[in-house]
Amino acid sequence: MKVLATRRYPGPAFEELGEVEVAPLAARGDVEALIVANEPVDAALFPSLRLVANFGVGYDRIGVEELRRRGVAVTNTPGVLDAATADLTWALILAARRRVVEGDQRVRAGEWTGSWADGFLAEELTGSTLGIVGLGRIGQAVARRAAGFDLRVLYTQRRRSEAGLAEYRELDELLAASDVLTIHAPLTPETRGLIDSRRLRLLRDGACLVNTARGEIVDEEALVAELVAGRIRAGLDVFAHEPQVPEPLLSLPNVVLTPHLGSGTRQTRESMTRIVVDNVLAMERGDELLTPVGA
Ligand code: DGY
Repeated sequence: MKVLATRRYPGPAFEELGEVEVAPLAARGDVEALIVANEPVDAALFPSLRLVANFGVGYDRIGVEELRRRGVAVTNTPGVLDAATADLTWALILAARRRVVEGDQRVRAGEWTGSWADGFLAEELTGSTLGIVGLGRIGQAVARRAAGFDLRVLYTQRRRSEAGLAEYRELDELLAASDVLTIHAPLTPETRGLIDSRRLRLLRDGACLVNTARGEIVDEEALVAELVAGRIRAGLDVFAHEPQVPEPLLSLPNVVLTPHLGSGTRQTRESMTRIVVDNVLAMERGDELLTPVGA
């Protein structure tokens, strides 16, 4: 099977594919399988295409509907990145809430000149309320980690969860009740712009918004305005136009920024490659795909 990958994906499993061409997504008549990281695929450029194996759980940019209409299967990598993404979410919650990055910058800039007792205070995390938008696998992993901080954990999502990890609230109610709001929904037509400027204003003064899901779920312009006003804090791992980050955020002390690191541990990324490769090999053998999308 002729395989084209948009980059070399990490881990030993990638070698099991044998000869793989690593190149950008330009027109190719012979390519039967593409390995991408949520990059848009123009199916018309690949007339022999049978499979798009996505390195990642989210496949919102690929163009799945058109691919499936043309008989091209799509797979993703669910499950293996839940823990890493939940851990990064907690890193951002703690960093934003306790002003960790701001503190680090002060020390490096030589601005720590007085006693530790002279101000620079943050808000307590323990005992506060965590609101989770989307209690799927990653949202649940975040909720389980909340137990150690004695948090009241609330959630919202279309379908009620049976997991017993958090209390349900309507979205507007969740926003108004949360000291920390964290987003774990997939990007769909329903969730695009879900947290708009009206909803952002429902957040309490001093609340913290964390996003490790997709930038487009939040109205980015409205979020920047709230952050520039200094009314809320944020920890952001995802952005609407990656790798671009809205300029005003770069100099704000009340936001912590990371470059889409949710699944970014060696172990997790290697597990993702394993699933990608197993899907390609399954297609080659004519076996059932392991993790088809929307099948
Ligand atoms: C995914 O898998 O969709 C993530 O965004 C990668 O970190």
